[in-house]
Parts: sequence; structure tokens; C-alpha cells
Amino acid sequence: MAYSIINGKELSQKIQEEIKEKIACLKTCPHLAVILIGDNPASQTYVKNKEKACQNIGIKSITYHLDKDIKQQELEDFIIELNNDKQINGILVQLPLPKHLETEKILSLISPLKDVDGFHPLNTGLLVKGSENAILPCTPKGIIKMLHSVKEDLSGLNAVVIGRSQIVGLPIAQLLIKENCTTTVTHSHTKDLSAITQNADILVVAIGKPDFINKEHIKKGAIVIDVGINKTDNGLKGDVDFDSAKTQASYITPVPGGVGPMTIAMLLENTYLAYLNQTTP
Ligand code: GUN
Repeated sequence: MAYSIINGKELSQKIQEEIKEKIACLKTCPHLAVILIGDNPASQTYVKNKEKACQNIGIKSITYHLDKDIKQQELEDFIIELNNDKQINGILVQLPLPKHLETEKILSLISPLKDVDGFHPLNTGLLVKGSENAILPCTPKGIIKMLHSVKEDLSGLNAVVIGRSQIVGLPIAQLLIKENCTTTVTHSHTKDLSAITQNADILVVAIGKPDFINKEHIKKGAIVIDVGINKTDNGLKGDVDFDSAKTQASYITPVPGGVGPMTIAMLLENTYLAYLNQTTP
């Protein structure tokens, strides 16, 4: 069966061009504050990519690179300062945080209106309720756009999500339910995984294990979304063994050039929308 690639890089660039045109019509430019703590190399790379993307489309971004030993209270005070700064429309705290910091407390301190990552409990609650007012987490929002780029109506499809993280697995499951998919969430305790995944019309894999999923797990004609970004001795690998999976899939996302660029496009979109929400015309 012939498969097609869902090209996240191309789709992301198209979305970024559209946001850039809208920003060019604004009187002032949206402003994103990024907090990077410590020296995790992957986080540093992600933040650099986000900064570059902001610059390209006219979003002002400032990265605050804070010491890895920063105290919880100091970080909380800093976030409150950013919340109160009327010039700033979006606040992003790059995860993971060093172990001594309380991630949930930090995320819940960010003003929900400036929470461009969509990780604040209020935005999580709005997402679960299916509210249009939720700021949606970037990766799941990008995945839904990728699915819609190849299939307008997802109603009634069997969707299986592998992984139940707060950042991807849980929110993408909620969004798939909102799309009227019959949605199953699997995880490390799931028994006979392939019996479940073989029933999936849409398979979203976010488990963080290189080449974990192959053709044995995939129903003929399935749409396969690979969220994994795993550094290996053989380079960057997704969670899906692409060469094996493509023999079964109808559509499949590559790594790199799939979900990753869409996450960035959605961050830019969320920042633009947060700006509009905070700015009276
Ligand atoms: N670390 C991995 N993914 C993300 C993300 O989407 N947002 C933030 N803030 N940190 C991350």
C-alpha cells in the first residue's frame, strides 16, 4: 500500500507565514518571555529554535536564562513579576525543571491568560470541558492540525494514544475525543499493546523509546503520528520505526520534520492569540 508523509515542516512554515502576515497588521508586536533554567542541552536547543521562530515572524521574545540552583521562591517571585508586566503577553517555562523545583506549583503560578504552553490547571480544565476558551498545549494542537491536513472529519475513527504524559498523551486524548474519535490511552502497564494498536485508525505515539512501534502494531491504512524525539548513536529517532511502519500506514509523520516544527508553529499561534486576548483594539 502506498503511504504519504505528513510534512510537518511545510505545514508549520505555511502557518508561520499566515501568522506573520497578521502580526504585520498590528500596531505593536506580541511579546513572549521564555524562562530557561540550568544547562540541559536539549532544552537549550528547543529554546533557541523557539527564539528564532519568534524573530522570523515578528514576535518579540526575551529568554531569561536562570541559574540551575535558583530557589523556588525566587522563581515564583520572577513569574509574578512577568505576570504583572503589561508588555508581556506570553510566558513559557521550558521543561523539565531541575529536580529541586516544584514544577506543578510553578506552572500554576503563570497567569492563565499568558500561559502559551497551555499547562496551567485552568487551561487543562477548559480543555477537558471542550471549551473554545482553553489555551491548548502546543504539541497536541499541532497534531490535530496535521490530522486535519489529511482528513477533515475524524468522527467515529478509532484513535489509540501511546503514552499518558501531561504534555502530550493526556491532552491529545482529550482533543481526539472532542473530534468524536473513539479514543484509547495506553501506557507502560498496558497488556498486549499490539492487540489494541492494531485496531487504531489513528495511532499517536508519545512514549520516548526509539523505534518502539513497527508494522506489527499497525492496522493497514492507519494514520501514524510519531511524537518521539530520541537522540541515539544512529542520530535522531522517533518512537516509530519509520521504514517498517510505512508498509502499513496510509499517512505517517517523519522524525525530524514532523510533529516538532508543528509544536513551534502552535507556540507562535498561542502567543499571537494571547496578545489579541490581552489587547483592546
Ligand atoms: N519540554 C518539552 N516539551 C515542552 C513544551 O512543549 N513546552 C515546554 N515549556 N517545555 C517542554
